[in-house]
Amino acid sequence: MEILAEIRLFLACPTPASWVEAALDNLPLLLIDHAHCEKKAASSAMNLIFRYADKPDLLHRLSRIVREEMIHFEQVLALMAERGITYDHLSPSRYAQGLRQHVRTHEPARLVDTLIVGAFIEARSCERFAVLAPRLEDEALARYYHSLLKAEGRHYRDYLELAEQAAQGPIDDRVAFFAEQERQLIEEVDDCFRFHSGVPVSKR
Ligand SMILES: [Fe+2]
Ligand SMILES: [Fe+2]
Repeated sequence: MEILAEIRLFLACPTPASWVEAALDNLPLLLIDHAHCEKKAASSAMNLIFRYADKPDLLHRLSRIVREEMIHFEQVLALMAERGITYDHLSPSRYAQGLRQHVRTHEPARLVDTLIVGAFIEARSCERFAVLAPRLEDEALARYYHSLLKAEGRHYRDYLELAEQAAQGPIDDRVAFFAEQERQLIEEVDDCFRFHSGVPVSKR
């Protein structure tokens, strides 16, 4: 798939094999966190719609993303209900905040960085759905995760193109900077298992 190849080049590292094993061992937790991620993806896009009311292309693309993420949220909740998994509060992983702490505070740099962070979150989600889908014994869930690849891949492209528009110049340096931050969050040991967590603490 073309988009997946592009995303694997965009990301500085693949998902570690140990994370995939932890995910297969913790599917209910993965699904609960996945549902939260879809809701937060919608909320983050909505926040940008409120903050940047003067950018028609941004409003249009992000409005579509909000709707799609809320549909994903409903779909994940339905898959959980079918499997007897109860949705509940869950502390977020360090991942999104670990990226957002580097967003610059003056405009338009703030918008550019926020959109680049959005592109990385979507890209990593897409990459993780791709590595998980072939490993899932639950065929309906595997099919669903495979179908999410395309949507999250499109979101990645939207965020990246919006970042390029907002910057009105090259963004390669900021993309490279966030790629390195993202790689560290994915490759360093993480004591909390989540959809976007790093290398799991080894089991005794
Ligand atoms: Fe989504
Ligand atoms: Fe998305």
